[in-house]
Amino acid sequence: MKAKITVLPGDGIGPEVTAAAVEVLRAIATRYRHEFEFDEQLIGGAAIDAHGDPLPPATLAACKSADAVLLGAVGGPKWSDPNAKVRPEQGLLGLRSALGVYANLRPVRVHPKLTALSPLKNEKLHGVDLLFVRELTGGAYFGAKTRTADTATDECKYTVVEIERATRRAFEFARARRKHVTHVDKANVLETSRLWRSTVTRIAKDYPDVALEHQLVDSMAMLLLTRPSAYDVIVTENLFGDILTDEAAALAGSLGVLPSASLGDGKAGLYEPIHGSAPDIAGKGLANPLGTILSAALLLRHSLGLESEAAAIEAAVDAVIESSVLTRDLGGGANTNEVAAAVLAALAGQKERVAA
Ligand code: NAD
Ligand code: IPM
Ligand code: MN
Repeated sequence: MKAKITVLPGDGIGPEVTAAAVEVLRAIATRYRHEFEFDEQLIGGAAIDAHGDPLPPATLAACKSADAVLLGAVGGPKWSDPNAKVRPEQGLLGLRSALGVYANLRPVRVHPKLTALSPLKNEKLHGVDLLFVRELTGGAYFGAKTRTADTATDECKYTVVEIERATRRAFEFARARRKHVTHVDKANVLETSRLWRSTVTRIAKDYPDVALEHQLVDSMAMLLLTRPSAYDVIVTENLFGDILTDEAAALAGSLGVLPSASLGDGKAGLYEPIHGSAPDIAGKGLANPLGTILSAALLLRHSLGLESEAAAIEAAVDAVIESSVLTRDLGGGANTNEVAAAVLAALAGQKERVAA
């Protein structure tokens, strides 16, 4: 098939990890005879430096006309002055909003080889297989902001429509999994959470085969570490989802291995690792590319409908983890390019087995 993929390397380790994922996508294109056209554009701090705008019109246009967008990360100390008028993160938030990608899928699986890296006891990690569905285009991220010398506000607003569409996605995915949805909120305090709770409860009636439970976010932050295998699909609002998924990285062994897919109503989507630009390790070859490579697999699955190709990448990543070619965050001594090369070699090995 032919597909146009817009690539947004961004800042910090973003260019390093997207380069690795694009190489993997190129290898997939060759092996399965697809034509992927890659169109690289600026976003975030790199775009501020070049154009004074974290989401230049050319970037947005390229993303809107693409079949899928692959993004590295944005942000860094250079653009983090609290008084700055433009910030890299505005580019990312503007892009998510403009593309209408309201459902952010963040799968969390624990590879048996990596359990030793988690601060949790190994037996707790057995069978952990979570799918977070984080609402991505509403809540405090997008509400009105005010600021005076001594006061600041961030409005947190949700409409029923926004809650419904993210919730339906969560239930649809739960149907294809273990049929269990945990809705996380703060309904004992927040009015938005009470709207979420009543809306999720109503939507759940359309999915009688899926069990629903509600959990307050503070206790969920604890339960995620004490009984992580008890959960299947976890649906929650934007800010809670941001925080809980970084917490969940402690289950998987490193922030560097977790991918994400952001979907709207159409097939096009935005794919990015859940980690940031990691300024502390940028430019040193220490970045783990697996989260971005796994995001590329999600891109093939959800935007291009290429399930075998997606599964091939996931199997190759599993094989690389198995063989212990790992970056420093996973206790290894390999650099970004060596891990990417190992994924390519594992893919090539699969091809030989298929041909044999
Ligand atoms: P971060 O995710 O960039 O880094 C947190 C820690 O995890 C650091 O120690 C970093 O070295 C490590 N880490 C992250 N990704 C890694 C990888 N692939 N391999 C190895 N180690 C990795 O979070 P932060 O330091 O809080 O934020 C830095 C900047 O990134 C901020 O400007 C923030 O706004 C931005 N950010 C962007 C995104 C995004 O673009 N989607 C996501 C999160 C944070
Ligand atoms: C993420 C990031 C972003 C978010 C930031 C960079 C705006 O932390 O993708 O998780 O908070 O959504
Ligand atoms: Mn985050």
